[in-house]
Amino acid sequence: MPDFYKFARKVLFRFDPETAHHLTLDGMVWAHRLGLLSVATGSCCRSNPVSSEIEVMGLRFPNRVGLAAGLDKAGTAVAAFGALGFGHVEIGTVTPRPQPGNPKPRLFRLVEHEAIINRMGFNNPGTAALLENVARSRRGFTGVLGINIGKNFDTPNERALDDYLACYRAVYGAADYVTANLSSPNTKGLRDLQNVATCRELIATLQAARDELAPAHGGKRVPIVIKIAPDLTDEAVRDLAAAFSEMKVDGVIATNTTIDRAVVTGHRFAQETGGLSGAPVRTRSTEVIRVLREALDPTIPIIGVGGIASAADAQEKIEAGAALVQVYTGLVYRGPALVRELAGLDGRIGLASSPGAC
Ligand SMILES: Cc1cc2nc3c(=O)[nH]c(=O)nc-3n(C[C@H](O)[C@H](O)[C@H](O)COP(=O)(O)O)c2cc1C
Repeated sequence: MPDFYKFARKVLFRFDPETAHHLTLDGMVWAHRLGLLSVATGSCCRSNPVSSEIEVMGLRFPNRVGLAAGLDKAGTAVAAFGALGFGHVEIGTVTPRPQPGNPKPRLFRLVEHEAIINRMGFNNPGTAALLENVARSRRGFTGVLGINIGKNFDTPNERALDDYLACYRAVYGAADYVTANLSSPNTKGLRDLQNVATCRELIATLQAARDELAPAHGGKRVPIVIKIAPDLTDEAVRDLAAAFSEMKVDGVIATNTTIDRAVVTGHRFAQETGGLSGAPVRTRSTEVIRVLREALDPTIPIIGVGGIASAADAQEKIEAGAALVQVYTGLVYRGPALVRELAGLDGRIGLASSPGAC
């Protein structure tokens, strides 16, 4: 099948990144409504989706490949991403109240590095509007829906847990799992929440809410996942892993974007404030997964994300200890063919059959 994305990318990259982002999302939603998406991407022809199913956190994932948080922040295109072949789609980050995010420009392509710098700042419609969007956009989606939650920019850190709790309660009915994002560099002070004491308190708070909410939701217990940064020291990762193990968190996502610029030094956008994603974060993200895997209770799954742009990159994450993987920046540079490659929908052997996969 010809790779239409090569042409689409040429056109999209003529626009500023945020305009291209909205054009793509809107275009995908329309193409999906017209039934064109799975035909155009070939995901209607999946060869053997059943063989790649995997159970993680008590949920059945159609394959190991998911959309990372931040691309569908408002939850408007869930089934459209499912039609591309994603086994799970993580929407958000959503905050309790809507907020516009940081002033523009706040998104930069570093094409030579297949990378992006963003300082979006959790621009999102708030939980109520996101849930309305999801009710429409998930129709026909048979994969797993993750909802990534955060705090409003004007909520002080001392009250941050109130925001996470409010979000968890609000999205409980709609989410298959919920990710507490403690690792965006674009909300002042957010990463300071990645300490053992706060993480323990956060996990205990959400677990107590789950005990209370589950009976009213037919016994459904929504897994709690924590997303961490690549900029933590190995020692800090180990300390957090010990706390996650003791608190019996359901999963860990490693990693978010990095504030390190070593790999892109000299690039004209290198000094833009924000999180760097794509190829430059790949190695560190894999290292964090490896450190986590060694220190974490073996029954707690890791979702590996950061710089995946090929099946080999994804395999590296799985061999380091990830049970599932996610992509964002790779999708921008490679297009839907990447999802087909990772999920094994292109006739090649997908990740599920890879040696070393758990
Ligand atoms: C433009 C942009 C916005 C993002 N927004 C979020 C977000 O709202 N919440 C979050 O947890 N991660 C967010 N991320 C981080 C990604 O989910 C992912 O962890 C990171 O980009 C590394 O993966 P990648 O190299 O495949 O992009 C964002 C990334 C990008 C590029």
